[in-house]
Amino acid sequence: MILVMGATGNIGSKITTHLLAHGQKVRCVARHFPNKEAFRGAELLQGDANNVGFLTDAMRGCSVAFTMIPSNVKAAEMRFYQNKFGEVTAEAIEESGIKKIVNLSSVGADLEGGTGPILGLHDQEERLNDISGLDIMHLRPTYFMENLLAGIPTIISMSRYFGTIPGDLEMPMIATRDIAARAAFLLMNPTFKGHNVEHLLGERNICHDEVIRVLGDAINWPNLEYVEVPPAEMKNYFVGAGLSEDWANGYNELSDAFTNGSMKASFQRDKTNTTATSIEEFARTTFQDAYSKALVGANKSRPQPEGEARI
Ligand SMILES: NC(=O)c1ccc[n+]([C@@H]2O[C@H](COP(=O)([O-])OP(=O)(O)OC[C@H]3O[C@@H](n4cnc5c(N)ncnc54)[C@H](OP(=O)(O)O)[C@@H]3O)[C@@H](O)[C@H]2O)c1
Repeated sequence: MILVMGATGNIGSKITTHLLAHGQKVRCVARHFPNKEAFRGAELLQGDANNVGFLTDAMRGCSVAFTMIPSNVKAAEMRFYQNKFGEVTAEAIEESGIKKIVNLSSVGADLEGGTGPILGLHDQEERLNDISGLDIMHLRPTYFMENLLAGIPTIISMSRYFGTIPGDLEMPMIATRDIAARAAFLLMNPTFKGHNVEHLLGERNICHDEVIRVLGDAINWPNLEYVEVPPAEMKNYFVGAGLSEDWANGYNELSDAFTNGSMKASFQRDKTNTTATSIEEFARTTFQDAYSKALVGANKSRPQPEGEARI
């Protein structure tokens, strides 16, 4: 039996699909399963993974587990929230006696400061490495292409994509399907021993100016523009939207880690950490789909970009 935490999330849901397609026995953990049909064939455990008794029972009898700390954009103190969640996961691993873990971490998890939301994942790698007799693979993916979906409402309402990272800065981005594919492979073939780290860097390095042009082409919006905004402005936007101040500060710190090069210094691209899905493929599939649904949700036809010929 394979346990998948965060089973309805970006990565957990795709891992589950892979495992079921390969005839594996899968146990899924999340607090809600709105679309149970998508999990047909899996055992669903609905509950709070912050509850050590619940998570220990979920891990019991499993040969290997996918662990992760969900993001919580409303946490008043993000690293504190991550550490509480991570402590419960570590305790459940010890109590249940499970010996093989594929743990979702991040690029930059080796760095001790200046990485915002990655600091809690840094702490979690160290915490899990302290569990005696555990064989563990920490996956360190780069920036998710799925983060770009959060820009759809402002594309629809303001005809722009806003961000704090310089538009011409090349950086690695990955589609979560590539992370899930690798995680599922490791869960089915848990031959790793001791403490291990694998970076996952996507198909190529790419800058936001190009990314947004590619996304624009996919939704028939030529010359869709990326607009760089100052971090203070972005923070005001996030806090105004109900996200915690601590999370907004962490986001800006993380953007800065990509911009100032400290993040890039902690990994190197090679054949083994380069994955399949290009930004063009992501744009044609996941992005286009989410954009179409958002337009329907907003009950709009596609707005007319400035300067585009009207027929
Ligand atoms: N975004 C990036 O660029 C990036 C890059 C590298 C690493 N990461 C890391 O990737 C992780 C996020 O992965 P993701 O995008 O796949 O996650 P996600 O889509 O946000 O999904 C979170 C999952 O966790 C479940 N969950 C949340 N709170 C829970 C609780 N208390 N008990 C049980 N289940 C709970 C959610 O379901 P319910 O809400 O129904 O419980 C959902 O299944 C974070 O650790 C993040 O730091 C992100």
